[in-house]
Amino acid sequence: MSKFLQFPDGFLWGSATSAFQVEGGCKNHDFYDWARQGRVKDGSNPAEAVDFWERYPEDIPLMREMNHNAARIGLEWARIEPEQGRFDPDALAHYRKMIETMKAAGIEPVITLHHFANPLWFVRAGGWESRQAPELFTRYVSQVIGALGDLVTWWVSINEPNVYTFYAYLQGSFPPGQRSFILAQKVRKNLLKAHGLAYDLIHQHYQSHSWPEPKISIAIHLRTFDPISQSPLDKLAVRSMNRLFHQEFIDPVTDKLDYLGVQYYSGDLVRFPMQMLNRPGLPKNVLGWDIYPEGFNRVLTWAWERYHLPILVTENGTCDDDDELRPGFITEHLIQLHRGIGQGVKVLGYLHWSTLDNFELVEGLSIRFGLIHVDHDNPEKPRKIKGSGRLFAKIAKANGLEMKS
Ligand code: BGC
Repeated sequence: MSKFLQFPDGFLWGSATSAFQVEGGCKNHDFYDWARQGRVKDGSNPAEAVDFWERYPEDIPLMREMNHNAARIGLEWARIEPEQGRFDPDALAHYRKMIETMKAAGIEPVITLHHFANPLWFVRAGGWESRQAPELFTRYVSQVIGALGDLVTWWVSINEPNVYTFYAYLQGSFPPGQRSFILAQKVRKNLLKAHGLAYDLIHQHYQSHSWPEPKISIAIHLRTFDPISQSPLDKLAVRSMNRLFHQEFIDPVTDKLDYLGVQYYSGDLVRFPMQMLNRPGLPKNVLGWDIYPEGFNRVLTWAWERYHLPILVTENGTCDDDDELRPGFITEHLIQLHRGIGQGVKVLGYLHWSTLDNFELVEGLSIRFGLIHVDHDNPEKPRKIKGSGRLFAKIAKANGLEMKS
């Protein structure tokens, strides 16, 4: 027996990338510099990536072949503003063509303004620790809006401010490799302030040009945290994690979100004070992350009950070398998403991470997240839609999926 799970009319189906993880060619940002210093596990670097910058005219038709009606791509700040205050009209014109190509293919663009990487001049000026950071970011955003705003409704201001703060300023695995609670607090406040300023600026610009209302959000990484035992200390640790990782990154900007961009990968069991552990009995991906589809339902219902904002899933996915796990991963997670919709959660769309195998942040090119396979060893970097990509195409076309009972 099977049952067809129908998704709402107008549901957005697509996948997501970020600029430095796919474009290649740009060496003017901190993630390239970090790789140059030997900080990427497999020795690859994002200047290589998968050449989306030049190959987008071939890649966008592949998105279409997977029946995408939406896709998320990023803009590289370091390309658009290669030196402080100097904006590159060619880079903006190139992004304009990219976005026009998406629209001509019937793909709604969801555009990310900041996805982890920062221009080197910005880092030298103090990066996100500096009090100037929100204004510098907003100046870049105003150039982008002037050049591209007429083409775009959906914006992600800042990708995963919580993950960025955690990895770059507490755990030290992203540049600038800091480990300081005080700096992390400063950076969190500056990122959220930057979002707020960008939000106001974009709304004002659209209003003054009588363009249709833009939709702007941060993309927040949500996890499930559960206590490893019933001890009050472990429960306290869970409350702290929820506050530090989730609430403190969303609560201060709830009046400046037109929707909530939710990204879900996995969950953790927590032991006091802050130890994250796997949940016994669950399958794991190659990075050892638990595959926990119920957690997707839990974060969606949590976000809806707390914030009452329509949700766009801006990332959800797993790494999987031979695409064995991914088809099941997609099916199971969509079943949980659909269950959430049935429980009253307003979900506008689902963007899978990622469109193509790409440059993974700390691991490099050897880890595969794509619906499309890229042969990194071949200089031509040939693309091929994987089985999971075909499955995704089928689901998107049907606007739903069969659930076996
Ligand atoms: C990030 C992506 C990253 C993915 C897989 C997300 O947290 O936004 O840039 O590639 O996780 O690790």
